[in-house]
Amino acid sequence: MAERVKILLSEEEVNKRISEIGEQISKDYAGKQVHLVCVLKGGAFFMCELAKRITVPVSMDFMSVSSYGGDTKSSGVVKIVKDLDESLKDKDVIVVEDIVDSGRTLSYLLELLEQRGPKSLSLCTLLDKPDRRVIDVKVDYTGFQIPDEFVVGYGLDYDQRYRNLPYIGVVELD
Ligand code: IMP
Ligand code: MG
Repeated sequence: MAERVKILLSEEEVNKRISEIGEQISKDYAGKQVHLVCVLKGGAFFMCELAKRITVPVSMDFMSVSSYGGDTKSSGVVKIVKDLDESLKDKDVIVVEDIVDSGRTLSYLLELLEQRGPKSLSLCTLLDKPDRRVIDVKVDYTGFQIPDEFVVGYGLDYDQRYRNLPYIGVVELD
């Protein structure tokens, strides 16, 4: 089956929006230092671009999670595959994600990170598919709300491919 990727959000649109979010975060955190927590692998491209556009001091850390399969998946329990290197204690933390879909991963992750005593904890996502939400998640910064379609690029993958596309696209099979 041939695959094509149809552009949903161009590189220019995505970059412009990331600049706007960077400006907003710089204003909201004026006089503070932000600690960006990237959820690998999808959040990596977004976080790097975002970090370059934040003008207050920035530190960064990375973690990787995976959903448990089978029945437990519906409970939203996720397994930490790679944990953070640094403590979150008393830091102004922003979790940076590629996409919020059902909300299961994020609601679990945010609860877990909250227990580590950050001064504040916010969520920034490049994409949001609100129609797919199963568990309510408070998103503080959103790049784009998109329809219920499977998207790739800018960190998002289809079977581990397409993460490197500099735009957001929809995979079409024919
Ligand atoms: P949630 O727990 O359902 O919100 O799942 C979020 C995770 O599912 C994201 O971090 C992505 O890794 C993956 N995901 C959800 N929708 C898409 C998509 O359209 N393209 C690629 N990955 C997706
Ligand atoms: Mg993800």
